[in-house]
Amino acid sequence: MEYGKRIGHRINGNKIEVTFEKQKVIVEIIKHDIVNFFVPIWSDDHRSKAIEGEKAVKTNFSTAEERDALVITTDSLTIRIGEDFCVNIYDKDNTALLCDYEGPVEEIQRLSESAIALVEAEGHDASAMKAKSHKISTRKCLDPEDCIYGLGDKTGFLNKRGYEYENWNSDLPQAHTEDFHALYKSIPFLMCKKKHGVYGLFFDNTFHSYMDIGKTSEAYFSYAVDDGNLDYYFLGGKTLADVIGNYTYLTGTTPLPQLWTLGYQQCRWGYENAQDIREVAQNFRKLHIPCEAVQYDIDYMQQFKVFTWDEQNYGKKGELFAELAKEGFKPVVIIDPGTKLEPGYMMYEEGMKNDYFAKDKDGTVYVNEVWPGEANYPDFGRKEVRDWWGEHIKFLTDMGVGGIWNDMNEPASFRGELPLDVQFHDEDRSTTHAEIHNVYGHYMGKATYDGLRKLTPKRPFVITRACYAGTQKYATVWTGDNQSLWAHLQMMIPQLCNLGMSGFAIAGVDIGGFGADTTPELLARWIEAAAFGTFFRNHSAKGTRRQEPWQFSDEIVAIYRKYVELHYRFLPYLYDLLYKGEKTGLPVMRPLVLHYEDDTETHNLNGEYLVGDSLLVAPVVEQGATKKLVYFPEGDWYDYWTGERINGRQYKIVDAPLDHCPIYVKGGSIIPMYENVQYVGEKPYDTLKLLVTPGAAEYEHFRDNGEDYAYKDGAYTLYRFKKSEEGVLEQEILHKGYPEYAQIQIVDIC
Ligand code: GLC
Repeated sequence: MEYGKRIGHRINGNKIEVTFEKQKVIVEIIKHDIVNFFVPIWSDDHRSKAIEGEKAVKTNFSTAEERDALVITTDSLTIRIGEDFCVNIYDKDNTALLCDYEGPVEEIQRLSESAIALVEAEGHDASAMKAKSHKISTRKCLDPEDCIYGLGDKTGFLNKRGYEYENWNSDLPQAHTEDFHALYKSIPFLMCKKKHGVYGLFFDNTFHSYMDIGKTSEAYFSYAVDDGNLDYYFLGGKTLADVIGNYTYLTGTTPLPQLWTLGYQQCRWGYENAQDIREVAQNFRKLHIPCEAVQYDIDYMQQFKVFTWDEQNYGKKGELFAELAKEGFKPVVIIDPGTKLEPGYMMYEEGMKNDYFAKDKDGTVYVNEVWPGEANYPDFGRKEVRDWWGEHIKFLTDMGVGGIWNDMNEPASFRGELPLDVQFHDEDRSTTHAEIHNVYGHYMGKATYDGLRKLTPKRPFVITRACYAGTQKYATVWTGDNQSLWAHLQMMIPQLCNLGMSGFAIAGVDIGGFGADTTPELLARWIEAAAFGTFFRNHSAKGTRRQEPWQFSDEIVAIYRKYVELHYRFLPYLYDLLYKGEKTGLPVMRPLVLHYEDDTETHNLNGEYLVGDSLLVAPVVEQGATKKLVYFPEGDWYDYWTGERINGRQYKIVDAPLDHCPIYVKGGSIIPMYENVQYVGEKPYDTLKLLVTPGAAEYEHFRDNGEDYAYKDGAYTLYRFKKSEEGVLEQEILHKGYPEYAQIQIVDIC
């Protein structure tokens, strides 16, 4: 992209239109520490799918034309815009935060020119070996100490520096390794922790984009995109938490879920009939392992046709659900977007009649193949298509369905990827797959969420595999088809931490691993590592070894029960974190760097995580290991199991036999806990326990019905607990709109 010399600028409200010889750019001050840079290459408007509603607020700023730059100053930032749209951003103390890179550009040498010529002469495609050039790109400087976090579900480690990624929702069957460029989700948001300062960048463009995070060169990272506008937000703040707050201010926070959805869920692709499901459910109750839901994979449908029920194998519609509901089980069912091409099938007929499916570039309805065989793809970018889909959800809610799991919505396709020119819509505007691909899952999530919202008074429980930035407003996510590999157990921690920092306060992985065969040891370590998970589901693929906890030994059942029970005891803490997260955007599961960002030891910690700011979890994620090297950040830490005090700012090797997950509570904490139950709703939670550690502490606890939106109208009780250094606890009720607990008990850690 060429911009040329700067000609001048014009202010219009919060917007500063900067004119260059060859291109106009709009800089918008959203608030004092959020600035949008918009280059209208493709359209004059943003066309954001992630940001809903007006976000800009009246903000004081000034502009000054200097010889080499236009200088824009807000209360917290100075932005210098030089020739050729060179942008440099500084904080209040004039420390550079983000500077455009103007030095020499290197390319990674993979093959020499002559070797490429040879590959091509042999008739092979050598495009992947050549340096790519993109219509729209920008390069930003990296300092040696900079660490990069975020980017959604990308594989690999916590710090994304040194790798390259693509934003193109991808359903790839191979085992996910750290050199993958893309998985199911596209969240073009990253945060940088610098030696002095932090910032975030959100590139709001749904076309296929590419990020090289200091791989090609240590000196810069680059962003490039195939089409659309260059449209990015600089997100400032004093801390990484502030940056997450600013990102979720734009794209929305994860809404408070129903309490039960945080409970344990069991699934398997290949529960073939009602009896299979029934036995699974009964076993949980028999073995006293808490369980909320058995999820129904595609097996429950007639020939994988969405919004149908296979009565032959699963019994009369609604009967199995009603039977298991008596035992507290809530049904959650899978729904795929691919609609079977079958004359006479209601979804096919209605979709064809109303013109609801995506079309080939020549105007014929587009066909590819997914589970039901030949299938069509609903054009979810159109409101009327989303409404149509949402209305069909009634078929499921009438049966008693409590949650909907959207899958295959990248969209997946078995006969090669949908061509880029397949015709879709963005509301009334016709567009192509190239623009819609990365938001297909987002729109399907919105259709499902809106549908459930109309059909039931409860907070919608929607799970999705594919998504874009902002989908957290509608759906919970899981990380798709991982495998029963130790490497995938290890990856769970950085992957969920980065998803959390990318706005998804609720996220999970398939516990035990989806593909491949688990081992008893792997399953035990997995349930330990995931014990504080917010989407807490064991799931496996058809044809793999079954991995319900009882498939192995009494020892594994006992370990499994211990950690699922632990999860249930901490439910009020997880729920409080989500209540607070609805306002702050902060996730439940957090990397240590989020709370100890000036401690460089935390910058690359992949093997442990925090739950809120009070729990430190350091699971064993290596086969055969019975010890764990734990890093304790600043402060006092107390072993959850023994009460032993450990000083912070040190590494320690701790014992961790198979049934032991090292868990620590920070000094000066108050953590709410409940009695263990077999499922949420089994009995009223009338006793609240407060786990306390030495040191002064303050904590707010939220209680409501855990189901609907009454809390928005004041039907909740908010407690504030304060503990002095001497251990005296005071209670204050900040808001009273829901019955109080009958009892509050203090549990001292030591
Ligand atoms: C996809 C999903 C997986 C599901 C399977 C069958 O692979 O990711 O969770 O079990 O499809 O529906």
